[in-house]
Amino acid sequence: MGKTFPEGFLWGGATAANQFEGGWKEGGKGVSVSDVALFKDPKSMEELLDVHGNCDITDEMIEKALSTDDEVYYPKRHGIDFYHHYKEDIALFAQMGFKTFRLSIAWSRIFPRGDEQEPNEEGLKFYDDVFDECLKYGIEPLVTMSHYEPPLAFCQEYDGWYNRKAIDFFCHYVDVITKRYQDKVKYWLTFNEVDSITRHPFMTGGLIESRFDPEKFEEVKYQAMHHQFVASALATKICHDNIPGSKVGCMLTKQTYYPYTCKPEDVLEQQQKMRELYAFSDTQVFGEYPAYLLAKYRNNGYNIVMTDEDLKAMKDYPVDFISFSYYSSSCVAKKAEDAQMTAANTVVAIKNPYLPSSDWGWQIDPIGLRISLVDLYDRYRKPLFIVENGLGAKDIVEADGTINDDYRIDYLKEHCKAMYQAIYEDGVELMGYTTWGPIDLISNSTNQMSKRYGFIYVDVDDYGQGTYKRIKKKSFDWYKEVIATNGASLFKDE
Ligand code: BG6
Repeated sequence: MGKTFPEGFLWGGATAANQFEGGWKEGGKGVSVSDVALFKDPKSMEELLDVHGNCDITDEMIEKALSTDDEVYYPKRHGIDFYHHYKEDIALFAQMGFKTFRLSIAWSRIFPRGDEQEPNEEGLKFYDDVFDECLKYGIEPLVTMSHYEPPLAFCQEYDGWYNRKAIDFFCHYVDVITKRYQDKVKYWLTFNEVDSITRHPFMTGGLIESRFDPEKFEEVKYQAMHHQFVASALATKICHDNIPGSKVGCMLTKQTYYPYTCKPEDVLEQQQKMRELYAFSDTQVFGEYPAYLLAKYRNNGYNIVMTDEDLKAMKDYPVDFISFSYYSSSCVAKKAEDAQMTAANTVVAIKNPYLPSSDWGWQIDPIGLRISLVDLYDRYRKPLFIVENGLGAKDIVEADGTINDDYRIDYLKEHCKAMYQAIYEDGVELMGYTTWGPIDLISNSTNQMSKRYGFIYVDVDDYGQGTYKRIKKKSFDWYKEVIATNGASLFKDE
């Protein structure tokens, strides 16, 4: 049998409603923050590096978006039309042998505005159908409760997660979905990349930045983050109450930083950068704020309103496992005026001279995945789940219709081998691995379709033109074999 992954290892793929469902006005769905995300057609590396610019939003931009049904410049409105293709797509995942399929529920499909008492039955029914289709093939759904999809009305009328009422709205939504899908879904994640509220506060926290005093905006983000922590803890309780035996995870963007040099200043900078990130998982795993985050509040004079009940809920209901996305690593330095800059996942970072990069500047580093697994496991001693990993690349359909994405196979193979080493040499407990975008979908950071991740090509371009036909890439059969052999095929050439 050779080298295999642990029995029951959950191989699969990961998606998000806002980037692939489409059907933005169907089935009673409300408008979400993603439906007003403007495609700016970034061409140069400079434009790609303008992460903030790509994520910026103002009330005027929202009004403009709402005044049109255009789907070309608002591509998340059409996605890849999973809404109408879900049977075909899930059948393809089943052909690859998926054990699990990560998807998110669009909050605005269940509660179109976010503040209603009564859920939208048509929205609930849609996910019933999707989960049934998965279960028909023995595919276990892994569901994110919130993946960059706050309902727009909730942001416009309540200021999103800055408002304490968000906790009640979200808990009601969680109660409804966990009761409804109690027999269908066992694995849940609360907020996708919960730390991303600091990078794109609108998509993650529903905060329209232009409404706030710029001097106070950092404090606003931390207040919204606090509300998400409380909501995540309560969601964990609700989920456990409604579905005994269910497992709830937090979800982190595993930005992995190296010091640019061995200067102690750079090493300290790296440590602080990692702490900024771990503050999120520390809070959700240990159930209390780390001392350094509280010190930050004090030193900056932030007055984050938190009640004793909030802190008790956070302590009483920590997560069961830690999930994360991992794409690349990057460097940090105290001062690095001469260093070359590059892009990472919605951040700009220093380029590592020892690593290659993707066409989008994300640095390719499988060893960094092993380092991340070890760091997280040593810190938390709880099961880990890699719920996103993959290579965004431009694929070419050859004249004979084939798509030979060997670069994607190489990337994934090396990352899977790093996982194997982390499990068997470093003793890490890893529940599973879902590659990002098993089927091409709209990029989160750039709103492009041409940044493709899938094993399955979708015939649609950056301007929404195409047949939406699904075509298997070369990596399709490669991943199928990896799953069928529980990882042994990764090592067949050794
Ligand atoms: C993760 C997000 O950060 O990265 C996904 O959870 C996103 O939503 C993925 O799509 C890849 O990023 P991008 O910008 O290439 O789509």
